[in-house]
Amino acid sequence: MLKEHFKLISGTANKKLAEEVAKILKIPLTPVDVRKFNDGEIYCRILESVRGCDVYVIQPTSSDASHNLMELLIMVDALKRSSPDKITAVIPYYGYCRQDKKTKPREPITAKLVANMIETAGVDRVIMFDLHVAQVQGFFDIPSDNLDVIPIFADYIAGKKLKDIVIVSPDAGGAARARSFGKLLNAPIAIIDKRRPEQNVAQVENVIGDVKGKTAFLVDDIIDTAGSIAEAANILVKFGAKEVYALATHGVLSDSAIEKISKSSIKEAIVTNTINIPKDKMTSKLKIISIAPLLAETIKRTHEGLPMGVVYEEMYKKLEKKLK
Ligand code: R5P
Repeated sequence: MLKEHFKLISGTANKKLAEEVAKILKIPLTPVDVRKFNDGEIYCRILESVRGCDVYVIQPTSSDASHNLMELLIMVDALKRSSPDKITAVIPYYGYCRQDKKTKPREPITAKLVANMIETAGVDRVIMFDLHVAQVQGFFDIPSDNLDVIPIFADYIAGKKLKDIVIVSPDAGGAARARSFGKLLNAPIAIIDKRRPEQNVAQVENVIGDVKGKTAFLVDDIIDTAGSIAEAANILVKFGAKEVYALATHGVLSDSAIEKISKSSIKEAIVTNTINIPKDKMTSKLKIISIAPLLAETIKRTHEGLPMGVVYEEMYKKLEKKLK
């Protein structure tokens, strides 16, 4: 049971996830009035006192990224002016994370700008999931958690009880992630040689590693246009993979991503609910795994000042048993 001075608030970006977390924690969501004026400006009012409370605001900055970010900032401002003890921004998907460095002169580093904005608004702590690059954590000068979903996905793969599997990274940047999966599942890894001739366009030419006759599990952080995983799946089949699954933490699913997944050689695409997936994007090939139990435990432990390491140790132990 959570202590008295605890509040859970949801923005409008992923209320479904917030409701799931609230249900697990057995507490009601604190009511808020969020509205949009005719000119697009956002209004927000917290409808209950939060004085002296430990407040958690759940709001992924997914599409529309700028709107959802602004809503989070306004909500935090409303809270800050209402004398809470602490404000934690729970940002299951951190939008703008991919703009983490300058690759050409005169470009912004938007991931850092967003971190500055969140801190300036008055957030004391952030909880995020699978950041595109872990060093974005260092863009914050307040405590930040970057939660790992690899054990959740590894458990899903292990549950399929398949022999001869290979973990595949769709690009060189994701090799470390594939290695972590491989280590947990005692499976070999392969890497796709992906190039980006321009933003949002993925071009693949080669596979490094042996995938012949194996079931391939593509692992990534984001499925955005689905270009990377669709192209990767097609080349994996060309190189002899028996079947291809794709797992990614964040289902951005922009443009014709769903169509690309449907038409590709992917047998099943699995994402989590860090981003709300509307009904019209659901297809038979898409599966959603909930992060709500892990998020609820994280929020509870943060509130109670308890470590998270033991939770992960438990997950690893469970996985080991499943693999025996
Ligand atoms: C890139 O570095 C990321 O890890 C993802 O592979 C990428 O964002 C996926 O984008 P898309 O689905 O548009 O190919």
